[in-house]
Amino acid sequence: MTTTDLYETHEYDVVIVGAGGAGLRAAIESRAKGLSTAVVTKSLLGKAHTVMAEGGVAAALGNVYEEDNWKTHFRDTMRGGKMLNNWRMAQLHAQESADRVRELEEWGALFDRTKDGLILQRDFGGHRYARLAHIGDRTGLELIRTLQQKAVADGIEVFMETKVLRLVQDTDGVVSGVVAYRRPTGEFVVFKAKSVILATGGVGKSWMYTSNSWEGTGDGHAMALWAGADLIDMECVQFHPTGMVWPLSVRGILVTEGVRGDGGVLRNSEGQRFMFDYIPPMFQAETADSEDEADRWYDDHTAGRRPPELLPRDEVARSINSEVKAGRGSPHGGVFLDIASRRSAEDIRRRLPSMYHQFKELAGVDITAEPMEVGPTCHYIMGGVRVEADTTQTTRAGLFAAGEVAGGMHGSNRLGGNSLSDLIVFGRRAGIGASEYAEGRSGNFTLDEGQITGAIEAALAPFARESGENPYEIHQDLQATMQSLVGIIRTGPELEEALVKIEELEDRATRIAVKGGQQYNPGWNLTTDLPAMLTVSKCTALGALERKESRGGQTRDDYPKPDPEMGKVNFVERISSSEVEIGAGGNPSVRSITVTPEPIPQMPDELRALLEEAV
Ligand code: FUM
Repeated sequence: MTTTDLYETHEYDVVIVGAGGAGLRAAIESRAKGLSTAVVTKSLLGKAHTVMAEGGVAAALGNVYEEDNWKTHFRDTMRGGKMLNNWRMAQLHAQESADRVRELEEWGALFDRTKDGLILQRDFGGHRYARLAHIGDRTGLELIRTLQQKAVADGIEVFMETKVLRLVQDTDGVVSGVVAYRRPTGEFVVFKAKSVILATGGVGKSWMYTSNSWEGTGDGHAMALWAGADLIDMECVQFHPTGMVWPLSVRGILVTEGVRGDGGVLRNSEGQRFMFDYIPPMFQAETADSEDEADRWYDDHTAGRRPPELLPRDEVARSINSEVKAGRGSPHGGVFLDIASRRSAEDIRRRLPSMYHQFKELAGVDITAEPMEVGPTCHYIMGGVRVEADTTQTTRAGLFAAGEVAGGMHGSNRLGGNSLSDLIVFGRRAGIGASEYAEGRSGNFTLDEGQITGAIEAALAPFARESGENPYEIHQDLQATMQSLVGIIRTGPELEEALVKIEELEDRATRIAVKGGQQYNPGWNLTTDLPAMLTVSKCTALGALERKESRGGQTRDDYPKPDPEMGKVNFVERISSSEVEIGAGGNPSVRSITVTPEPIPQMPDELRALLEEAV
């Protein structure tokens, strides 16, 4: 470690930003190659959005239905993503996720078991077979517990409560480190590295109702863009159909899809199981059109077609939205999710223990006896940093990305359970890709000092203002804008209005004044999160304006159908000038983002054939 007046410096072969499933899995791989590896997280180890993937990790293990295989998983994923996916990522994911789950088991992860002692798998939306390996409704938690134990035992170094502000390039423009500050002390720290992996997760905190906790501020998406990397399909945002809607203080908290996977049904205020009215043509052949048929399927998947509650998430979320709009919602603006009349109380408590406690403690509802009130909540962004599938290399030298921050894998809509498998498949690949890059980097390199001091000065600027804007008010205004104008259903005029408002908020953010010191100062911490939130919100609104069609997590009321031509392109966002402009407050200004449609690479015939096979 070296220290200057302004900051201390640490040096590693590989630095990973983010300690969720992808970051930890990458770290394990880079350590396995013998490289010095640091994980830098603004949160605590073990606390990441990974835990919000509650119901399971999708992998074609074939333990419950032996007919399942990677080809079917690939097909389901591509159809769920409405074909916008990076097909190579979807292929690698489907082929490798089963091995990655077995590896977790070897490393000590506990799973629920079949009567033969195999890892038990449950049903989830859009998956042809019961495919989600799980432990009750705490799968993400178990995954992260297992990975963190292994990573720490393997000797990675973890810098907790350390918020990364900016990527730093060397004097040749190669991403070679990050500049950060420690939340407890406010001291600045620079990590110099031969390669950097972004594993920063998602962006949900820009919306008012979200399953994300405070960490989900789009840091990695924004930092990549500011460093000149491409983002793709940022308009594709997933609203998980079932978040809590009441009490208001907990609105948005996730209600796992495992409830529907285990037989839970959705009803409106008239008691009608309304999902039968919303089966889209693409899924008609495989979806039951009567309650009898749907219920037979739960007992035997060969005796009927899938229940409509298990359509992909985008379809279910839009249907709930329509019911509420039509005046058939529950008292607090959602619909009813009923598991009580479908499973015994003992079953519910055993298979869904967190849901049982969550509703009991937070809402005073006993889900073994009463229905839950649920509605869509911002959960996940499918868009993200453009990566090369096999290595996770971004379009900037030295920079890699894995997990939710990376785009492409899930197309326009992610299937439930495919996030945990994404984390372990591409976390591992990022660890390999970044290690190989680091090993190939010879000679010394010098960090661009101007980028470091620029980021530090920008972070400190709000302390120098006697009075100014309040960061909490800006955040609230952003959330209100994104919720009402860039929500589940969008229109061109509303998106234009959102862009004007976001630019106003960007201006206001340059005038924030922060009181107090740098140690554990939540107002300052939020101030340093805001530039990323504003940048990614703008990217989402811009992409949504350009994609004049409805597809997966992008629904345009003024363009209600998919457009076959738009189904052939990714919308790529990048900063047009080679140098990031520094705005009035010292933060990167992103007024010059361009949005360009670029063709999705041609899928090989043998993969295309899999999509055409009978369901
Ligand atoms: O509903 C859930 O348990 C969430 C899973 C996921 O997002 O993959």
